[in-house]
Amino acid sequence: MKVPFLDLKRWDEELKDALKTKFNLILENGVFSGGEEVKNLEAKVSTYLNSPFTVSCANGTDALELALRALEIGLGDEVIVPAMTWVSTAEAVLIVGATPVFWDTDEDGLLAADWECAITARTKAVIPVHLYGKMVDMDALVIKAEANKIHIIEDAAQSFGAFQNGKAAGTFGDVGCLSFYPTKNLGALGEAGMCLTSSTCLAERMKMLVNHGQLVRDEHQLIGRNSRIDTIQAGFLDVFLGRFEHQQILRRRFAGYYLTSLSKVEEIRLPQGTLEPDHNTHLFVIQIERRDELKDFLFQKGIVTVIHYPSILPDLKPYSSIGNFEKARKISKQGLSLPLNPWMRKGEIDYVVKAIQDFFL
Ligand SMILES: Cc1ncc(COP(=O)(O)O)c(C=O)c1O
Repeated sequence: MKVPFLDLKRWDEELKDALKTKFNLILENGVFSGGEEVKNLEAKVSTYLNSPFTVSCANGTDALELALRALEIGLGDEVIVPAMTWVSTAEAVLIVGATPVFWDTDEDGLLAADWECAITARTKAVIPVHLYGKMVDMDALVIKAEANKIHIIEDAAQSFGAFQNGKAAGTFGDVGCLSFYPTKNLGALGEAGMCLTSSTCLAERMKMLVNHGQLVRDEHQLIGRNSRIDTIQAGFLDVFLGRFEHQQILRRRFAGYYLTSLSKVEEIRLPQGTLEPDHNTHLFVIQIERRDELKDFLFQKGIVTVIHYPSILPDLKPYSSIGNFEKARKISKQGLSLPLNPWMRKGEIDYVVKAIQDFFL
């Protein structure tokens, strides 16, 4: 048996037909940038996540950059970033001219609770990343950020659909950043992203920054850029959004099978809180000392796993930084993402579990 990590060709015919219908509609309408599809998507996400303002953009990395620029963070400013995250979180900080100050994570890969020790007179913001879909304790983080008068930009790229005490990931901070990269729980058929905010002023600034500094055509008030979402991606995302909750049920079901079946394997640390509402089961990351051996063993059996991520950012040349990143580094050495997506079959989960059990025989 072959178990891919994620096979986006497996969509059912009904979904494919809905996407084709949407494509035909957009083709008929002849509007390929902006327009009703974009407004509709922004309104639907705004309602679903209960975020007063939503500003769509070209991708999740741009969303982070737009948030930083809207908050006027730049040269000479410091931004606290977890040592373990996808590169975009720190990349966006450097792109705007600010300095990422890395801090260690906890055992789940989330910014460690003592992050406020990294605050200096130059700190302007902190970026909690809801890594693998699991949310940082936002109430605690907001209290500390407010006490120290620093902004919060939530990197919710991996956590669409996670809610902490009923409040959506991305709606706790000044700005929340979403990615609709195709492999995300809500993914486009290409690149797309979005900023969430409850501030009228930030929403307006981000809308301008996305579109060459203008709100009204030819009235350029800021130096912006072109980071507009494609109309066609907004349309496709509308189709996926309609199926999102059903797909979440399937993800949770498969994650539940893994949790039950692997609970007796002592050598494995299972992901925590995966089935809680503040986790969207984006990735199922186990931790094991003999990670590379297990990865190779599973590959021999036709099972594809992925490492998120093999290096912590401060160990990479462009982000090189010294500090105590022990827990984040441990995850980079021991973390292994097992296949988990709504298009899997129960037999595949059983096969992966059996292969892992065989590894320990
Ligand atoms: C944690 C995190 N931040 C930011 C991004 C950037 O999103 P995008 O790939 O849409 O630019 C991603 C997506 O890969 C991500 O996982």
